[in-house]
Formats: sequence, C-alpha cells, structure tokens
Amino acid sequence: MTPFDTAIRNGTVVTESDQFRADIGIRAGRIAAIGEIGMAGEEIDAAGLLVLPGGIDSHCHIEQQRADGSTDEESFTTGSASALAGGTTSVITFAAQIKGQPIGPTLAAYRASAARAMVDYSFHQIITDPTDAVIHEEIPALVRAGIRSLKVFLTYDASHVDDRGLLRVLAAARRAGALVTVHCENYDAIGWRTEALLAAGHQAPKYHPWSRPAVVEREATYRAIALAELVDQPIQIFHVSCAEVAEEIARAQARGLKLWAETCPQYLVLTEGDMDRPGFEGAKFMCSPPPRGPEAAAGMWAHIRRGTLGIVSSDHSGFSYDSARGKRAGGPQASFRDIPNGIPGLAARLALLFSEGVSERRISASDFVRLTSANPARLFGLADKGRIAPGADADLVLWDPARRVTLTNALMRHAIDYTPYEGKVVQGWPVLTMLRGRVAMREGEVLAQPGDGRFLPRGPYDYIRPSGVLAQDFDASAFA
Ligand code: URP
Ligand code: ZN
Ligand code: ZN
Repeated sequence: MTPFDTAIRNGTVVTESDQFRADIGIRAGRIAAIGEIGMAGEEIDAAGLLVLPGGIDSHCHIEQQRADGSTDEESFTTGSASALAGGTTSVITFAAQIKGQPIGPTLAAYRASAARAMVDYSFHQIITDPTDAVIHEEIPALVRAGIRSLKVFLTYDASHVDDRGLLRVLAAARRAGALVTVHCENYDAIGWRTEALLAAGHQAPKYHPWSRPAVVEREATYRAIALAELVDQPIQIFHVSCAEVAEEIARAQARGLKLWAETCPQYLVLTEGDMDRPGFEGAKFMCSPPPRGPEAAAGMWAHIRRGTLGIVSSDHSGFSYDSARGKRAGGPQASFRDIPNGIPGLAARLALLFSEGVSERRISASDFVRLTSANPARLFGLADKGRIAPGADADLVLWDPARRVTLTNALMRHAIDYTPYEGKVVQGWPVLTMLRGRVAMREGEVLAQPGDGRFLPRGPYDYIRPSGVLAQDFDASAFA
C-alpha cells in the first residue's frame, strides 16, 4: 500500500506567512503531510515552481438571473473552466432576489445550476427588497441553509436599497450571524449627474466615469460604514476603486470596526482613459465603480500593502461585446446609461495580481496568497480552504513565477467574447490546478468534469461576530 495518493515534490510552498522548500503528500482529497514524503501513487514534479493554495474568488457573477428575466452568458461550466485555467479552485457567486419578489426558491434554483460546476462554490444572497418576510423569515432560513453572506447595492435601478433598507438588512444579518457585503455608490447622485450629462449631449462610454466620480463612491462607503457601526454589524465593502475611498475605510478600521474591503485587478491596471478608446470600444472597460485616473493605482497599492484592502477578487461579470444582451446590444450610439456594467476577469485575476504585484516587487508571494486565498477563506468562513496545512483540502496551484504570457481571450476560457486585458503581457502563470487532490487543469487543458465542484455550506464562525459595541448600549437589532 502506498501511503499517499499523490505527492507534489521539489516545489517551493508559499503560505500567507512563509515560503519554504517541501514536498506535499495528499490523501483522500486533503493535504496529509508536508515535508519529506514517502511513496505515492501519483508523482507530480514541481521543481522551479511555486506551490500555492488554490485561488478563492469571493466576488464573481455566474449564471445570475437578471431583473429583465435573462440569465448571464457565463454558465457554471464555462465559469469553472475559466476559474481553473486561472488557478482558482473556489468561487463565491451571487443568488439574486428580484425586486418585488420573495427570495423563495431562489437558492434552490442557483444550487441546481451550480450542480454543473467544476470548482467548489458558495453564494452571497443579494437582497434588493427587504420586506418583513425577507428580513424575519427568509434571511434566517438562508443562514440555516449555509449562506453566511448577503449583498446589498446602494445603486442601480433594479437593485438599490435605501438607508432604511440597509439598516434592516444589517440588523437581520446581526441576528442571524451573517456578513453583509455592500456595493457603495450613491444612487441619486449618479441619477442626477447622468441626467445632466445626457442633457449636455455627453453619452459616449467615456462619460460613464463622469456620472460616478470618486466622491459618489466615497459618500456611499462612509454611509455604509456609519450605518454598520450603528447596528454593530460587520461588513465588507466590495470593489474599492481608489485611495480616496480606501482612506474612509482605513479610518474606520483604525477605530476598531469590524470592516473589511476588497479591490479588483481592474482598479490596478485599467484607467478611465480605457473608456475613451475609439468608437464604441470603451464599453469593454465599463464597470461600476469605474477605473479611475492614471494616478489611482499607486494609492491602491499603498492600501493593499497597508492591509486596508485585504482581498483581491475579480468581480467577473459576464457581458460579451457582441451578443443579444451584450455591450453593443443597444447599437453603437447607445448612451453610457444603457450599456450593461461589468467586465470579465475570472481567469486573469491571479496572473494580473501576481505580475503587477509580486513580479513588480510591490507585494510578496505570501501577500499574494493572503489576498487571493487565505483572506477570502477567513472572511467567508471556508474553514477547509485557503491554507497549505495538514487537514486542509488539497486545492493547490503550481505556479511558474518566471513564465511570460500574452493574455488573449482564448486563454481566458470564459463564455465572454473579449477580455479587457487582450495583449497585456504578464509574468507568472498557473501551470497546474488541483481541486481536492485531483488535477483539474494542466497547461491550460481543463480536465475536471461538470459536477466535480461541491457546494460549500458555511456554518457559524467567530471572525464575523459583532464586536458588542453599541450606542447607549442599546441593541436596536433585537427589536427591528
Ligand atoms: O460593474 C459591475 N461591477 N458589475 C457587476 C455587478 C456589481 O456591481 O458588482
Ligand atoms: Zn457591485
Ligand atoms: Zn459584482
């Protein structure tokens, strides 16, 4: 009998705190030993490669139902292929409540679609309509079903909640033991500026960032933080775009609030200038919040190093350029208001962050592991993920830190017909991705099968427990 199913030998293991040469022995899908490893059924040579924990993308939109009745082009099968190609082994996607409807069987429907996934998965539940039934019955039921994170939008016609709605969701999450994640932009400010821009004849994609400058994001971020502080409910701010916003977060973190924040590669490598490309091309770079000016990335790297921004996710959001519901569906003269927001980035996330971060010596390889795997596992309660340690799931990536690759849409393996990173050269690339001990991707070839992914139910965990600090020591969430 061989003691291990698989041995990974000669690699350099990278954890969030350390980097060392060791072999890894895997048994029954889990890491069984690290160090000098005996015989194994399957041998994998990782000489010259880094061995990283599989990426966890805690913010991506896959096969999501939209308010107009349509569904994202990116399916769990194509989305998983893209994840594996880029070195990601777990995703947290979204189950969406449609305004005016109960959550009802939503989670069951998403779980049925995700049964075809090839990576492990969980969901954030989007709350767009916090009715009494949603607040008092459906959110507690979701948490019992293993969903420990809710998302609220402070903008978008189809999904925004007002301050009272946000307070109700924060209080419900506090009672149930869930994290709240927030899209922070001011709905009315964007609507007002959009009307003015269109009245002035400014409708090209380049005016999208004009409709929602940084102050619009900063105001909503400050408001979300203040209301979360009032309720004493931990939150995560999604997709922070610039230092002006990160500074609000850093100030609140310094006061001891349980507050976390993520950013995405688009805020490190794209700029608002990309939306000013000739013709309609700028639409390919439109997301919200938008990438900012050319000076923004330096400030973002400073906040990444400082720990204000603890997670880098993709916010992969699938709209092709040329498809029935894609960026150009309204024709090449469509106003920025009518172009769907969101850009793809599931496969490119790790390579972009490694290249711009580790290869460019802005962060260490351990920082990279913390930002892309360890912190998402910690924040979202994925106890078996994000670590290279005995007992953890054997979700691993063999990473070539020296390989230079020119990004193309074909390499992304997604259903979307473009990548905003076409032609960008990165240094550092995943050569093998392993999901629970099985090789799921080797040299770009996806070997996993639909259904290989598993739902990750999330139980209670201490990290997101409220701090217990309440104004006048009165817990309003116990009553409303
Ligand atoms: O533009 C974006 N970010 N689209 C995806 C949906 C969201 O706001 O996260
Ligand atoms: Zn968002
Ligand atoms: Zn998103």
